[in-house]
Amino acid sequence: MNEQQNEIPAQSPKDRGSIVKVLAPATVANLVCGFDVLGMCLHEPNDLMEIKLLDEKKIIIISADGYPLPLDPAQNTAGAPLVEMINEMPGNIGFEVTIHKKIKPGSGIGSSAASAAGAVVGANHLLGNFFSKQDLVRFAMFGEKVASGVKHADNIAPCIYGGITLIRSIHPLDIVPIPAPELFVTIVHPQIEVRTSDARQILRKEVLLKDAIKQWGNIAGLVAGFIQNDLALIGRSLEDVIIEPVRSILIPGFDEVKLMCKQAGALGGGISGSGPSIFMLSKDEPTAIAVENVMKEIYNRIGLDYHTYVTTINQTGVTIIDN
Ligand code: HSE
Repeated sequence: MNEQQNEIPAQSPKDRGSIVKVLAPATVANLVCGFDVLGMCLHEPNDLMEIKLLDEKKIIIISADGYPLPLDPAQNTAGAPLVEMINEMPGNIGFEVTIHKKIKPGSGIGSSAASAAGAVVGANHLLGNFFSKQDLVRFAMFGEKVASGVKHADNIAPCIYGGITLIRSIHPLDIVPIPAPELFVTIVHPQIEVRTSDARQILRKEVLLKDAIKQWGNIAGLVAGFIQNDLALIGRSLEDVIIEPVRSILIPGFDEVKLMCKQAGALGGGISGSGPSIFMLSKDEPTAIAVENVMKEIYNRIGLDYHTYVTTINQTGVTIIDN
């Protein structure tokens, strides 16, 4: 990662008591074949967060909509990263974070990452961008640890950098932004909750060499497809022979959704993160809407409540909307 992509232009630190508002977007982790190493940022949905600079070394969490979020900072996905951040800052500095949670926890579209990334980007803005993007990812991963027991960056990195990111390594952190083509994304979120920790627990700990060969062929193909804007290559690389066969049993209607969406013209897709949301990539908006209609028909027939989104790839990541 070159320094220019990593640095955020410095500003003067804000006065104590200043408040910044941020939009923290949803993300799709894994992108089917890239378990824990690929992620993509979306324009919709977003959490809204307000972060206030305090003059004492403490973190206060407020759940604005009465959503039952843990309010102990060490147990909160926005709080834990800020605890790490203030421990690396000299002086008496803290933050009060008000979270309007719009991305449902357990949805598979990066709810915990949005809280963590939104908190650190907003806090860093108040500090005059004291920290680099890579530092922010490092802090925000503490939020993922709270949420799922494991530090993974495939939601956090695209949420902070925008676009599509490859996390080549987390020890040491090595984040590679991948040029993202202008694709449409359709998401269906069946209204069941899949906890990331549970969805990780059921995975086999070993893979067969023949499966690994297929998987890394697909990962390389997908990245090449994004860089070359080769839609056919993207489509045939959206295949996961390791994780999806195990996790898809947790998602009612998964196989049918995938098959029918491709028949409706989607390039391909699969489980978003650890599920239960399913995402599909399409070359244009009419196709993405046709794909949405297929998803709706299937879940109406199954009789399971759902939310759908038709959106595009967000090249910016967390956005400061008021300061
Ligand atoms: N890579 C993580 C997983 C993402 O699939 O468990 C969780 O959103």
